Amino acid sequence: MAKNIQAIRGMHDILPEQSGLWRFLEGRVVDVLGRYGYRELRTPVAEPTELFRRSIGDVTDIVEKEMYTFADRNGDSLTLRPEGTAGCVRAGIQNGLFHNQVQRIWYAGPMFRHERPQKGRYRQFYQIGAEAFGMEGPDIDIEIVAITHRFWRELGLDGLELQINTLGSSAERLLYREALVKYLSAHRQLLDEESRRRLDSNPLRILDSKNPDLREVLGQAPVLMDYLGTESREHFDTFRRGLDELGIGYQINHRLVRGLDYYSRTVFEWVTARLGAQGTVCAGGRYDGLVEQLGGRATPGIGFAMGVERLILLLEQGLPRLDMGRPDAYLVLVGDEPQRHGMILAETLRTALPGLQLLTHCGGGSVKSQFKRADRSGARFALILGEEELGRGTVGIKSLRDDTEQQEITQAALVEFLGKMGCNNGAFVCR
Ligand code: HAM
Repeated sequence: MAKNIQAIRGMHDILPEQSGLWRFLEGRVVDVLGRYGYRELRTPVAEPTELFRRSIGDVTDIVEKEMYTFADRNGDSLTLRPEGTAGCVRAGIQNGLFHNQVQRIWYAGPMFRHERPQKGRYRQFYQIGAEAFGMEGPDIDIEIVAITHRFWRELGLDGLELQINTLGSSAERLLYREALVKYLSAHRQLLDEESRRRLDSNPLRILDSKNPDLREVLGQAPVLMDYLGTESREHFDTFRRGLDELGIGYQINHRLVRGLDYYSRTVFEWVTARLGAQGTVCAGGRYDGLVEQLGGRATPGIGFAMGVERLILLLEQGLPRLDMGRPDAYLVLVGDEPQRHGMILAETLRTALPGLQLLTHCGGGSVKSQFKRADRSGARFALILGEEELGRGTVGIKSLRDDTEQQEITQAALVEFLGKMGCNNGAFVCR
């Protein structure tokens, strides 16, 4: 027998039993973004490889090791997008979105990175992100973080910690880089192989090392904050004050440098201890040089992206308890006539109660087998229509979630009954 074909390692199906939670999350997040005035942008999943090289940076893990890059049939080098910011900026420049205007944009979709798969880390994963263009003051930095803070509140997630840092301007970073390289070179013998390699190519990333043996030497390293000029310092102070005023708690993490090269000034990450090593659920920052670097007119930008799988893992840990997509009612139809009439009844109910989630039994079978299916569907009520009910113009109602006696009401009274029972609220109920 031929071997079954499996999904590619690190790429997953989102099954029907999981997709309710996905829709719940996406629905809440997109709703919040809309309320802040962000509008959706959809970009292709593949872009010219050059776009990611020039934005994320040649000596980053993503570009060096993780991109899905291939030649198409014309021999052009394409890459499946490893993140959404670069495509957003490319689309903005190409479509003139940055000409004398500010833009607030969100996007969602799959991203691709050839990383070592483990829980919370995949080769195809979903991000929802937002980018704001054309605003250089720290007020938009505050708004961006406030949006992410509101997500957690509206999703019912707690226990997330906000870490912030500033990377200064590129000139300030250059000064700091020199001091850091000088310091680390003097302690070269204490560095691991990876860090020694990065000393020439991307020394700031050494600060991000997870190797506990480096803790001490990095703890004594010069701090970027000490190399900031007045403007960058004020930007960061105003940003922090804004978070304080909104009651958004944070930790300053001097070693937060981010793995993509385009950042300047404000950077931040939301982290949790509940997901092991893959604890960052949302990350972002300012990238004031990127639009110009990609050929557009100088336009400041700031944004974030969150890892949807990681947030789903958190939601699944039971906070809050979510009752996703359970139908309100299951229509049991016994006999040929009831089956035909049942279809009409079901459509009438759906028209009268637009939020109603109703499953109609298809395929016949005994009352017993239909009840079994009704129960397995998770429905709250079974509605029963047999020859006798049909003759009397009634429907039987049996609660499947408690021991209430079965009752019989007229078909005309059914809409009112279901409405009263709250069966008109739509599928996603957050209890
Ligand atoms: P990033 O830190 O590379 O930033 O990714 C953002 C988030 O995507 C991470 O915090 C994580 O939750 C999720 N993520 C990343 N890689 C994986 C993976 N292999 N499996 C599962 N989840 C993953 C960016 O992508 C920037 N574009 C964010 C940004 C937008 N900065 C400014 N604007």
